[in-house]
Amino acid sequence: MKQTLVNHTEFIAFITDICYYKHMNNEIYIAPSILSADFSNMRSSLETIERAAADWVHLDVMDGSFVPNLTFGPKFVKDLRPFSPKVFDVHLMVDHPETMINAFIDAGSDYITFHMEAAVHAHRIIQQIKNAGCKAGISIVPSTPVSALREILQYVDLVLVMTVNPGFGGQKLITGSLGKITELKSIREKNSYDFLISVDGGINRQTAPSVVEAGADILVSGSAFFNAEDPSEEVKILKGNIPV
Ligand code: DX5
Ligand code: ZN
Repeated sequence: MKQTLVNHTEFIAFITDICYYKHMNNEIYIAPSILSADFSNMRSSLETIERAAADWVHLDVMDGSFVPNLTFGPKFVKDLRPFSPKVFDVHLMVDHPETMINAFIDAGSDYITFHMEAAVHAHRIIQQIKNAGCKAGISIVPSTPVSALREILQYVDLVLVMTVNPGFGGQKLITGSLGKITELKSIREKNSYDFLISVDGGINRQTAPSVVEAGADILVSGSAFFNAEDPSEEVKILKGNIPV
C-alpha cells in the first residue's frame, strides 16, 4: 500500500503541477459529470470521456438526505478506478462527510469535495483528506455566500461553486451565482491562495463563456457533455477553443 501511496501521491503532485500550470496559463479544464451518463454501462462512459479528451471525471455522490437524490458509494468509485487514468473529482453531496472520507480515499479518489453546509468541522475534514494524500475541495450551494468559506480558503485545493441547487443534472444555471466566482478569484489573488475554482451545474455552450469570463478554472458538465452529438467537439466548444 505504501508503494502505491507513494506512486499515487507522486501522481497527484504531477497532476497538480499540470493543473497549476494550466490554471496559471488560463487553460480551462472540463470535468464531465457521470451523473448524466448511462449507469448501466459506465465503463463505456469513461471511454467516451477519454476519447473526448476531457480532463477530469466528476463523480457525484448523493445520500438522499443532504440532497433529494441517491447515487452511489465508494465501491462504485473503486470499481471504476482501474478503467480511467483521469483525475477522479469526487463531489460528496452528503451529510456527515467525515464518516465517508476514508472509504472514498481508499477507493482511489484524487480530489474529494464536500459541502460547507454539511460540515461544522470543515477545517478538520480538510486535514483528514489532505493527510491521506488526497486533494481537498469545499463546495457551496447557491444560497450560501462566499464569506462562509473565509476561514478555510487558505487550506483548500479547490472551491466548487454550485450554479444549480444540487441533486440533479439537466438544470438551468443560476446566473446570480456567477458573482461568487469573481469574488473567489479576487480573494485568491489578494491573498496569494492557490485553490482551483470549479463551477458545477447548467454548464453548456451557451453558459460556459460567462462562467469562464467570471474566472472559472474547471467546468463541470453533465448533460451538455453526455447528450452532445460529438462529445469531443463539445469539450473544445466549452473550452472556447472553437466557436459555437
Ligand atoms: C448536481 C451535480 C452536478 C450535475 C451537473 O447536483 O453536482 O455535477 O451532475 O449536471 P449538468 O451539467 O447537467 O447541470
Ligand atoms: Zn457535482
